[in-house]
Amino acid sequence: MTDQPISPLLTEAKLGRYTLPHRFVMAPLTRLRATNPEDAVGALHATYYAQRATAALIISEATHISPQGKGYPGAPGIYSEAQIAGWKQVTDAVHAAGSLIFAQLWHVGRIAHSSVQPGGALPVAPSAIRPEGQARTYDGKRDFETPRALETEELPGIVEQYRHAARSALKAGFDGVEIHAANGYLLDQFLKDGTNKRTDAYGGSVENRARLTLEVVDAVIAVWGADRVGIRLSPSGKMHMAVDGDPERNFIYVARELGKRGLAYLHVVEPSNPYGDPFDRDVDPQVIRRAFGGTYIANGGYGLDKARAEATITSGEAEFIAFGRPYIANPDLPRRLTEGLPLAETDQDTVYSDGPEGYSDYPIYEESRLAETG
Ligand SMILES: Cc1cc2nc3c(=O)[nH]c(=O)nc-3n(C[C@H](O)[C@H](O)[C@H](O)COP(=O)(O)O)c2cc1C
Repeated sequence: MTDQPISPLLTEAKLGRYTLPHRFVMAPLTRLRATNPEDAVGALHATYYAQRATAALIISEATHISPQGKGYPGAPGIYSEAQIAGWKQVTDAVHAAGSLIFAQLWHVGRIAHSSVQPGGALPVAPSAIRPEGQARTYDGKRDFETPRALETEELPGIVEQYRHAARSALKAGFDGVEIHAANGYLLDQFLKDGTNKRTDAYGGSVENRARLTLEVVDAVIAVWGADRVGIRLSPSGKMHMAVDGDPERNFIYVARELGKRGLAYLHVVEPSNPYGDPFDRDVDPQVIRRAFGGTYIANGGYGLDKARAEATITSGEAEFIAFGRPYIANPDLPRRLTEGLPLAETDQDTVYSDGPEGYSDYPIYEESRLAETG
């Protein structure tokens, strides 16, 4: 018998107030299956997430914090009683399956269309700059509109939306929350100077552009305690045309400020991420990790390369790895990756469709092998 060395991905580590048994985190994945007038999840989502409780920590799909924060038909919310009740089914199922789940808190800002906004209002943003491309609506894709720039007096109301959603997540039985400040949505729009042309205290200098995000972080910490709050950033990301002229300087400041607050973790969508719009390698994520100084979750393409994922843990460049796309078709991803078993392919046609197909019907490895051999 030969002793296989244990994968560094299977060693325990601390994340905020929790000690997790291994290093696999499920990255947030929008799947647009909350297709009901309440924007609520339910039994189907509970099944899907419980299947993926093989992750030591699940980060939920992005959940809009208010009707104004919504940009995608079929995305779930986290502000109403019906939504809280739906998420309670999910958190109960994940806990029964032995894992933890954080809610990702989302305000899309300008990445919306007036037809999905309350009262048909224009989407809001730091500045009235129209993104190129198209929004998802109930009638298919429509060109983005020029958003309405938020008044300074409205910004406390945005912070309040996050506070309310954070409280709702607590009631729904989540184990923590992740503030979505990545991928070109509202907080990222404020952080980056390509989307933020404001002349008030929330625009201009790096400090001003970070102000709203830090106010949101402080409000959410007041609800949860810092050791149950994480944040997601995409310093190098250009998704949804949120770009910055000096992202390294900007995000070093943001990461330092976040580090002072003792958050449970910083989660970075790294430039190697081959998903979506092109990413430049203009910010070394390790610089951002060091500026933060706490627990770091690396994300972006790690499911394609087990050796890279393991080396990232062994070298101390990350405490955890978040896997996104591989989790869609591989509910048992940790086992498949660490044992060198083949990964199942995602059916692209059902990523954003409705119902169980291509969602909760991907089998674990043994089942798929049995199915093949009849
Ligand atoms: C179908 C799909 C949905 C996604 N939804 C979200 C989301 O809701 N929130 C978020 O922060 N990132 C989202 N992402 C980005 C992923 O979390 C992750 O950053 C990206 O897929 C790169 O990681 P990977 O190479 O492990 O897939 C999504 C990606 C995909 C493919």
